[in-house]
Amino acid sequence: MPALANALVRPAEPDDLEAISVLVNFYADLGNLLPRSTNQIAENLEHFIVAEIDSDIVGCASLELFTRNLGEIRSLMVDAEHQRLGIASNLIITLITRARDMDVKRVMALTYVPELFHKHDFRTVDKSIFPEKVWGICINCYKFHNCDEIAVLLEL
Ligand SMILES: CC(C)(COP(=O)(O)OP(=O)(O)OC[C@H]1O[C@@H](n2cnc3c(N)ncnc32)[C@H](O)[C@@H]1OP(=O)(O)O)[C@@H](O)C(=O)NCCC(=O)NCCS
Repeated sequence: MPALANALVRPAEPDDLEAISVLVNFYADLGNLLPRSTNQIAENLEHFIVAEIDSDIVGCASLELFTRNLGEIRSLMVDAEHQRLGIASNLIITLITRARDMDVKRVMALTYVPELFHKHDFRTVDKSIFPEKVWGICINCYKFHNCDEIAVLLEL
């Protein structure tokens, strides 16, 4: 069992924008995540948190709301050198706390790694229970007709 990384998890700041964009688009190019332009990230920066080690951004994630009661964990990633050290878990726990503080009742995610979310009490569900996501965002995705991501949900 590797030692947990000593990462600082904190809200994203404007100076983090480029590092977040590099991380997101690195994994988007590999097909792990949907691409997001720097402008799209900038517009949502207030929803992002980052994990920092020695002043380097090694991970990020965001909590974005569809409705007052339904939030989505998006753009969750950890750079290749710092994986399996608990950093994504730390990001997820921080966003769950943020959701509770905002009185959001349900948090969902689309993922290729449901095991990670199951560790935090999310359960696998059918994507069709999120029409807000499917018809609001997924419909514009290049994978819309061939989506192989797994939906997970945590009820708070
Ligand atoms: C998926 C990802 C975010 C996980 O980050 P991480 O910091 O390595 O995750 P953690 O260390 O918190 O993992 C906690 C647990 O989740 C599970 N887990 C994490 N990554 C996993 C993987 N690739 N496959 C299966 N289970 C995984 C394991 O149970 C792990 O516990 P263990 O290391 O004791 O076995 C990271 O691998 C990543 O950025 N991948 C590329 C981008 C991506 O796919 N993002 C989408 C996620 S929605």
